Amino acid sequence: MIPDSHSLHQPVLMNEFLQMMSPVIEAHDGKTLRYFDGTFGRGGHLKALLERHSNINALAFDQDPEAIEYGQKNFSTWLDQGRLELFQGNFSQFDVERWGHFDLMLLDLGVSSPQLDQGHRGFSFYHEGPLDMRMDNSQGITAAEIINAYSEDELNALFQELGEISRPYRVTRAIVHDRKEKPFLNTRDLAGLIERVEGWHRKGHHPATQYFLALRLSVNAELDVVENSLEKLVHGLKSKGRLAVLTFHSLEDRIVKNKFKEFAEETKDWGSAVNKKVIQAPWSEASENPRARSAKLRVFERK
Ligand SMILES: C[S@@+](CC[C@H](N)C(=O)[O-])C[C@H]1O[C@@H](n2cnc3c(N)ncnc32)[C@H](O)[C@@H]1O
Repeated sequence: MIPDSHSLHQPVLMNEFLQMMSPVIEAHDGKTLRYFDGTFGRGGHLKALLERHSNINALAFDQDPEAIEYGQKNFSTWLDQGRLELFQGNFSQFDVERWGHFDLMLLDLGVSSPQLDQGHRGFSFYHEGPLDMRMDNSQGITAAEIINAYSEDELNALFQELGEISRPYRVTRAIVHDRKEKPFLNTRDLAGLIERVEGWHRKGHHPATQYFLALRLSVNAELDVVENSLEKLVHGLKSKGRLAVLTFHSLEDRIVKNKFKEFAEETKDWGSAVNKKVIQAPWSEASENPRARSAKLRVFERK
């Protein structure tokens, strides 16, 4: 059971998302529309669409069983009415043969605030918990397994590529040294080591930020999943349907930008990007919600 105090997640770029979806909704003039949400979370974006438009039915995926449990508990009216279907799984499992075509789609990537805030999920260096970081904690390797098993060179490569840390050497050397004494099993042990080695004066970003991000991306194979799923999702759009993707860091945004460009090329010609310039949060939103500061929205429209 998920405690209600952990239910809060402030959806990002909501107005911009709704605006981007509205031409498709208006063109349908009250006829039933299908919406696919690949990253349900706490259902913020989905709820906004379903509340505003009674002609929209939705299918939502989340790989995190706790997100699906939250949806089953809090979205029961729409579930009972048959307007919403929830599926616990990775959006890379989307299959047009099984689920059909959709008018609207959203991927709001990364983790939700409840995932970050709950120590037992192991995503946060501020909260004591097992060094886990799996969104679907029923399968796959944990962050602890990476930290305790990778060679020093492998750890350097991981932190350089996914964390974009140019010189992680002193941290990785210390990890390899200290784990001989005692394996790293919890978030605070690793965060404490990074604070010690990198130094932290409680101003600015916590020095573990990029290390934890790199581990999370690796544990959940997040970049590969996006790279390998976009084509499948675009093929799941109906003609003139739109796929919106919200990313939270540059490596992810680059993948989306390049994929959308590739899909629009003459050889493929599957459609085009709706916004040539990436959409970012206005100052008013970014100042209130730190997650919004790095958010980028791109939308692709099927031919
Ligand atoms: C940023 S939150 C989504 C928030 C949601 N739009 C809202 O307003 O409540 C991301 C969610 O997507 C899920 N997720 C991330 N990658 C996923 C994937 N590849 N497949 C399925 N779910 C994923 C996470 O478990 C998390 O619950």
